[in-house]
Parts: sequence; C-alpha cells; structure tokens
Amino acid sequence: QTGKFTYDPGFLSTASCNSTITYIDGDKGELLYRGYPIEQLAVNCDYLETCYLLLYGELPNESQKADFEDKVMHHTMVNEQMQFFLRGFRRDAHPMAVMTGLVGALSSFYHDSTDINNPEHREISAIRLIAKMPTLVAMAYKYTIGQPYIYPQNNLSYAGNFMRMMFATPCEDYKPNDVLVRAMDRIFTLHADHEQNASTSTVRLCGSSGTNPFAAIAAGVACLWGPAHGGANEACLNMLTDIQKQGGVARIGEFVSKVKDKNSGVKLMGFGHRVYKNYDPRAKLMRETCHEVLGELGLQNDPLFALAMELEKIALEDEYFVARKLYPNVDFYSGIVQRAIGIPVPLFTAIFALARTVGWIAQLNEMIGDPEYKIGRPRQLFVGATPRDVKPIAQR
Ligand code: SDX
Repeated sequence: QTGKFTYDPGFLSTASCNSTITYIDGDKGELLYRGYPIEQLAVNCDYLETCYLLLYGELPNESQKADFEDKVMHHTMVNEQMQFFLRGFRRDAHPMAVMTGLVGALSSFYHDSTDINNPEHREISAIRLIAKMPTLVAMAYKYTIGQPYIYPQNNLSYAGNFMRMMFATPCEDYKPNDVLVRAMDRIFTLHADHEQNASTSTVRLCGSSGTNPFAAIAAGVACLWGPAHGGANEACLNMLTDIQKQGGVARIGEFVSKVKDKNSGVKLMGFGHRVYKNYDPRAKLMRETCHEVLGELGLQNDPLFALAMELEKIALEDEYFVARKLYPNVDFYSGIVQRAIGIPVPLFTAIFALARTVGWIAQLNEMIGDPEYKIGRPRQLFVGATPRDVKPIAQR
C-alpha cells in the first residue's frame, strides 16, 4: 500500500478490520478505491475496469481488461431452473425480496463445487456473481411486468447488455443510447464499494463462518434493502415525488420544518452519512451524471431535479443541517438519473446491489484470503436481569 494513513487512537478501537480496498476520509469527503480517487475512476475507467481493480488491487492493462471482460461476459447466463424459482413470487413482489431469494438460490447450483478456502474457487465465484447479477435483476424486473426474459448478449458492454435485458422484448430489440449506457456504467462504478458499511460488514460476518459466497452475498442484499442504507435511493425519489405533488419548490420550507421537528420522524432521505461529515464525492458525480442524462433526453427542466437542487441549496444553508454536518449522499441524485434512464423506482436498490456485489465479494475474499481470519463473534454488555430462580407456574 503506498503511503501511510494515520488514525487517532479513538478511531482504532472502533475499526472492525484492516483492509487495503477502499479508503474514505469523511471529513474531507474523499473516497479512494485501491488509492485511486473515485472522481478519476468514474471519468477515466468503466465499471469492469473498476471491478478488476477492486478484486486484484491494480487497474488492468489492455490484455488483462479484455481477458477479464471475456470471462465476465461468458458467465452472464443463469441456470434455466432459476425461472421456476421466480414463479414462486407474487408478481408485485418487491424486487429486493426477489433478489434476496435469487442470489441465495444461486448457492444451490455452486455450493458443492465451491471451497471458499480455495483462491481459484473464490475467483470464479466473484466472476459468476459480477456476471449474473445484471441477468437476475433484469429477470426480476421482467417477471414483475409479465414480459418474457431477455437472454444476455455477450458481444455487448456490461452496462449495454444489462439495459438490453431490461428494455428489449422479443418483438423489438433495444438499441441502447450511448450516453445512457455510459451513465448506467458510471452509476455502477459509484456504488461499487464503500469500506465497512452495514451490508459489507454483514457479508464479512456471514462469510466468516465459511459459508459459500453466494449465501454471504444474499445476506448483503437483504441488509442493503433497508431505507437507512441502500433503500434510501427509492425512499428519496418517493420523498421528492411527494413534495412535488404537494406543491413542489413552494412547499420545501414546510417539508424542511417537518424534518427539523424531532417528533415528526421525517428524515431528508439521501442526506446524512455515518462517515461523511462533508459532501459525499459520489453525490457530486451523480449530480453531474444527472445533468448529462437529462440534457441528452431533453429533460433539462425535469421538475424533480430542480426540486432536488433547491432542496439541497436550502438544506446546506440551514443551521439544523449545517450544525449536524448533513450533506447529500450517494442516494440523493441517483434516483432521479435512474428514473430518467427508465429504471422503475422499486428497482433502484436492486441496481445498487448489482453494483455493490463486486465490493462485497472483494471484501469477503480479502478476509478469507487472510490466513489469520477467524469466524466473527461480536460480544455484548449484558444489562438484563441478575441471576434468579424459576418459580412454579402457580406462583408466577
Ligand atoms: C448509504 O455506510 C455507508 O457507507 C453507506 C453507503 C454505502 O455506500 O454503503 O454510503 C450507502 O447507506 C448512504 C446513506 C443512505 N441513507 C439515507 O440517505 C437515509 C437518510 N439518512 C439518515 O438515515 C442518516 O443520515 C444515516 C442513517 C445515513 C446516518 O445516520 P446517523 O449516523 O444517525 O447520523 P448522525 O448520527 O450523524 O446524525 C446526526 C444528527 C441526528 O440528529 P440529533 O439526534 O443529533 O438531533 O442528524 C440527524 C440525526 O437524527 N440526521 C438527520 C438525517 N441524518 C441524520 N436528520 C434529518 N435527515 C437526515 N437524513
């Protein structure tokens, strides 16, 4: 690892592990994947290059990139049996309920051929998961709208293949717009990893028992679903839509007052972060991507985008938010850009899970690859009843 990072002693006691993958400076609003600033990766690399970097520690050269892309794009199909698993869900099931089930079901195809302690098995599991998540998310979507599944097409780019599986039908193919494909690819990169967040810590703890990687990733999907975590992008879009319905920009003051009223229980979704006490660098890049996509689609005057920017402006000047160091996070703009691309709101978090799979599996493999690792076993402070004797039921 180049350079040395210094931490204050208080922080060291809270750290759950050592890692060489992602570095966040919450006070400065900095995010580095293997030492590379997210701002440079989002502009100069595509998602599969970033996957290679997260998995192997270095950016690929041309032949390594071509070989990695070939491997991923030749593992995009899922076993035909997966279709029958989907049929067990209600048509209106939330896509994250479906994804939690589908990713867990993948373990039934690979469990007996995967020894998590074998580096080659860890590598092929990573390739399979990165390759199959877009296929599963697209199948979950097609199932809910009653359309036939679209099989992956290996000669397309990773993001282009995903969008084709999402939006093509057997009756007419889908010619993805390059600007939208690039935006989708960048959304994947911005969500790829984020050190020891709740879902990554879940994957590490789950995987530390030696369970197969597909089951551990399914645990990460389940954790990410929560509105305080990956579910915030869906919750944020719904929040903006509600404000728009109630009068839009003219009603922002009323909404902000409700957020500041502790009894309301209302939060400004897409704002605040456990680590960032400055602007989340991903939010800035997501806002730029918003501008690009809305401009490409002639939606520069999208009312929700205007509302989001006005809400951000007001919040960043309001003492309540300033005093609590609350800034936009990755989820604040991501819903607007995904909605413009044509992604249905309930699918936003499933796309977050698709993109974060590489981070989860890289973190899991880093832990399992450390010969010193043991099963996780958090302890507690017991603050309950002191020892006492059981009384016969007649005396209770
Ligand atoms: C992600 O960890 C990661 O890295 C996650 C993630 C990743 O890439 O994996 O970055 C992805 O999960 C981003 C976060 C998405 N969640 C949301 O946008 C939901 C809205 N945000 C909040 O729920 C909240 O900000 C959290 C959960 C994200 C962080 O909560 P904390 O740690 O409790 O925030 P805090 O302790 O710093 O809060 C300080 C104060 C508190 O008020 P007081 O009790 O001091 O009066 O700020 C308040 C909080 O109530 N506060 C908010 C707020 N977030 C915090 N008030 C209004 N709106 C908010 N969004």
